[in-house]
Amino acid sequence: MGQRLMKRVLSGIQPSGQLTLGNYIGAMQNFVKLQHTEECFFMVVDLHAITVPQEPAALREQTEAVAALFIAAGIDPLKANVFVQSHVRAHAELGWLFTTLANMGELERMTQFKDKSAGKDSVGAGLFVYPTLMAADILIYNADLVPVGDDQKQHLELTRDLAQRFNTRFGQYFTIPEPYIAKVGARVMSLDDAGKKMSKSNPNAGSFIALLDAPDVIRKKISRATTDSGREVKYDPANKPEISNLISIYAHCANMTVEAVESRYDGQGYGPFKKDLAEHVVSVIEPLQARYNDIRQSGEIHQILKRGAEQAAAIADRTVADVKERMGFLSPRG
Ligand code: TYM
Repeated sequence: MGQRLMKRVLSGIQPSGQLTLGNYIGAMQNFVKLQHTEECFFMVVDLHAITVPQEPAALREQTEAVAALFIAAGIDPLKANVFVQSHVRAHAELGWLFTTLANMGELERMTQFKDKSAGKDSVGAGLFVYPTLMAADILIYNADLVPVGDDQKQHLELTRDLAQRFNTRFGQYFTIPEPYIAKVGARVMSLDDAGKKMSKSNPNAGSFIALLDAPDVIRKKISRATTDSGREVKYDPANKPEISNLISIYAHCANMTVEAVESRYDGQGYGPFKKDLAEHVVSVIEPLQARYNDIRQSGEIHQILKRGAEQAAAIADRTVADVKERMGFLSPRG
């Protein structure tokens, strides 16, 4: 690989239900930041979403919705490649090649697999090999940096192992990617239980803030968010997990440091803090929703995705051809 001036960045988000403030703070805000200085690829990972059953019409709608949310969140399609994973067929092909490099044991150790399969009688094979497709997503662009939330760290480690394994067996080829995980906000917790991460798959809608929740719904959810029985607005995740989570959301939405948030509410109790927090979240989400509605109405997203997939495929196809050559596949001739 020649020397690149900019780092190459890749990340993806599943179109499986509503996106949350956790996705925004843990991932999308970093996507927006990185696009100014690096060469970025951001995709909607529909092939990953079908590792659990999806209703076809809902999958199609959600895929378009998530792509529109990328743009609404501030990703500039002229700066970053925005595309849908299944539009670049090479992902599925490299995913299969990596599945043959992975071991059952290492896949069984993945905590996301353990969580999603716990207590189920029947577990889909796609859920099990999910991380090998994710490794393909990243390595197919020889990405240097992968902005993700804390929960994806283990998948990144497996990706690094698979890249190293390939390089050892078939000769130095893949860049070993690094995770890009923010210190605060890498794990936004649930509003009703600070022991769980905020997730779109939580059946209690009060536990998460969806990016498309109406402002009044957001205000209500924040006013009902669980807190401890004290009154000190202090960032102390071990002893005050609920308030610490809210402080971290505040800091991200108001673009302030944790310390500045603490000192603003010194001696004031939780009431005024929660009220202002709701307004800061709304002030981020309201303009995002306005842009989202414009993008959906204009239909421009299809053009953006088409261009993004063409640019991505040019790189991805080359990687797969190189990998197949190294692994010993006969190329079609004549
Ligand atoms: P997904 O769709 O579950 O989540 C998308 C991104 O949002 C982050 N995230 C959070 N961050 C902080 N707090 C939370 N509560 C929270 N919830 C979600 C996730 O860490 C993630 O960065 N496997 C990936 C999708 C994927 C991918 C990839 C990512 C497929 N291929 C290649 C990076 C590179 C996933 O399920 O994300």
